[in-house]
Amino acid sequence: MNTLSNGAKLKIAELLKPILADQFVLYTKARNYHWNITGSMFFTLHIKFEELYNELALDVDETAERIRTYGSNAPGTMTEFLKLSGLKEEADGNYPDQFEMATKIAEDYNFLSARINEVGLKLQKEFGDEITAGKLYSIAERYEKHVWMLKSLIAKN
Ligand SMILES: [Fe+2]
Repeated sequence: MNTLSNGAKLKIAELLKPILADQFVLYTKARNYHWNITGSMFFTLHIKFEELYNELALDVDETAERIRTYGSNAPGTMTEFLKLSGLKEEADGNYPDQFEMATKIAEDYNFLSARINEVGLKLQKEFGDEITAGKLYSIAERYEKHVWMLKSLIAKN
């Protein structure tokens, strides 16, 4: 049973909001790249980016609903997401080449898995919230795998 106070739950919800924002920004970036990728890896990355944004669409929902479960409102506007996120969007009308796209998505997943791990540790240490921490760690593990796969795809050898 979850014995956290309402105050603690609200504090945890605040820690989850930047994660939701990062996931939403990355979702948008993966869609942008899915649409605009060109080059020899078109088929591989066009499909991979689609897989990733579909997964992120489920992940944003999980995070948002955890925030609601803990009694706070889930940020849901682009303005809030951009303010809260640690990730950078592509500049308007700028389309990196296929290698750069894969690199940037890998770096974003790397940033996000580090952020999630950090929040997970805080939830365990400061709040004893093993349930939310466990959810976060399983997400971070998936993201680390994406980093490995994307980096392997574009590795020179
Ligand atoms: Fe599509």
